[in-house]
Amino acid sequence: MVKLNGKKKLRISVFISGRGSNLKSIIKFSKKKNSPFKISLVITNNKKAHGINFAKKNKIKYFFINYKNKNKAEKQIKAKLYKHQIDFICLAGFMKILSKNIVNSYKDRILNIHPSLLPKYKGLNTHQRVLKKNEKFTGCTVHLVNSQLDSGKIILQKKVRVLKNDNELSLSKRVLKVENLIYPEAIKKYINSIL
Ligand code: GRF
Repeated sequence: MVKLNGKKKLRISVFISGRGSNLKSIIKFSKKKNSPFKISLVITNNKKAHGINFAKKNKIKYFFINYKNKNKAEKQIKAKLYKHQIDFICLAGFMKILSKNIVNSYKDRILNIHPSLLPKYKGLNTHQRVLKKNEKFTGCTVHLVNSQLDSGKIILQKKVRVLKNDNELSLSKRVLKVENLIYPEAIKKYINSIL
């Protein structure tokens, strides 16, 4: 933890694999005076992840981790986390599943965002499945990460109405807007509850 302006702020690492819209909104929020956290490190398994640009723009350290060998990749990740004194991890579109080793080292200190109303629609292609089932509502969920996929304690959830003419793209865009709003709020809420 670092002391900024006399206040303690948790040092967060955000893990991404692609676009990085959630990373962008978390960085924006972290700059607020009353944010209990700062983004100290970005980790990606994808050299071409668009989200890396947000790290660059904001002068946040970022590292590409080659996942060809998962064990090796996680060892490298752990070394980076320790080196940069990371207190907390936020997964934001990170397309790899963390092993028990990392999950246990950061027990109750890893959050993820998922584009559905968990426990419904765990895993991939959520919007497609929601539309197929003619759901009236979907949404997004910020939850703690444990060793099972999309299954940890729910921290914050918000509903989004499915419209009659929605397709996967229109629905995913509306849900993403809500994701970008609730993720920083959920991080703040959770951190304040454990500090
Ligand atoms: C989001 O829909 C998130 O819920 C899911 O992956 C997507 C990442 O989007 N886990 P972005 O890279 O943050 O824009």
